[in-house]
Amino acid sequence: MTGAEQLPPATSTRHRHLFDLKDWSKDDVTALFETADVMGEVMQRTIKKVPALQGFTVGLLFFEDSTRTRLSFDRAARAQSADVITFSSGGSSLSKGESLRDTIETIDAMQADLYVIRHPAAGAPEQISRWTDAAIVNAGDGRRAHPTQALLDAYTFSRSYQGAEPRDFSGKKLAIIGDIVHSRVARSNAILWRELGAEVTLCGPRTLLPDELAAEGVTVTNDLNEAAEGAHALMALRLQQERMAAGLLPSLAEYRQRYQLKSEHLELADPHALVMHPGPMNRDVEIEGTLADSERSVILDQVRNGVPIRMAVLYSLLVGRR
Ligand code: CP
Repeated sequence: MTGAEQLPPATSTRHRHLFDLKDWSKDDVTALFETADVMGEVMQRTIKKVPALQGFTVGLLFFEDSTRTRLSFDRAARAQSADVITFSSGGSSLSKGESLRDTIETIDAMQADLYVIRHPAAGAPEQISRWTDAAIVNAGDGRRAHPTQALLDAYTFSRSYQGAEPRDFSGKKLAIIGDIVHSRVARSNAILWRELGAEVTLCGPRTLLPDELAAEGVTVTNDLNEAAEGAHALMALRLQQERMAAGLLPSLAEYRQRYQLKSEHLELADPHALVMHPGPMNRDVEIEGTLADSERSVILDQVRNGVPIRMAVLYSLLVGRR
């Protein structure tokens, strides 16, 4: 059995690209999660490979460092028998003065069907889409969006939460703690979890909390105890320590004392609350190391679920577009 016959019908999405989640409805996300369930079964098999994307070529274009996102998209493409071409800005001809447009047009001459793009500039994936006919998936652009991270985070919650009705996000509360202002993960999760019906609370020091998010229907607080109270998921974000130099934080010791996610905060949360972190994490800075390793932590499940979610995204955009 190849497994191809168990894949969902090719009618999974109305989207051409995945730039951010602003135009993804709850139904779109539910359909993607159902596809990811099938892909997850594929990844449980002895032979973790199906021919679903045979003949397609996926380009992984990373203009910024990555471990999880780059490797899991690579795994997701190869597990579906796609060919993969990879580009990293380090070691490329960008250092010789080649422009972004010339770089993209050069890669595109090698004929990929879809590009996964990480770039430090917000909006780079949309800009690149004007220079190619291929589908585009945003793998993180500046501080703006990281849609597949948010999808795998919500998917992990829906699979791991042991309390009532894990797949129903209404009445659930997600608390995101840390460096919110620089975080594309916080923005994408806020949009997605609210679309799914959850409440979202963002917590951090005043200098790391953007005012504009309060206007988008999320709760904003500087008090970690208040954020943790009754939360069903507690998500710590990496403290981007380069911000310390910019004077946005008084001291690392004070940050740890006021904003490090600790087991005492879990005690204030829902009895089944999950501990999450998108990675990479600074142990014992934004999250207590023992909490990151605890039974309530799903940090490695987030990484594991990144593969079926990204398989579903590739499959939906390449095969399942209505
Ligand atoms: N969460 C995340 O995007 O991790 P990487 O930077 O390692 O891809």
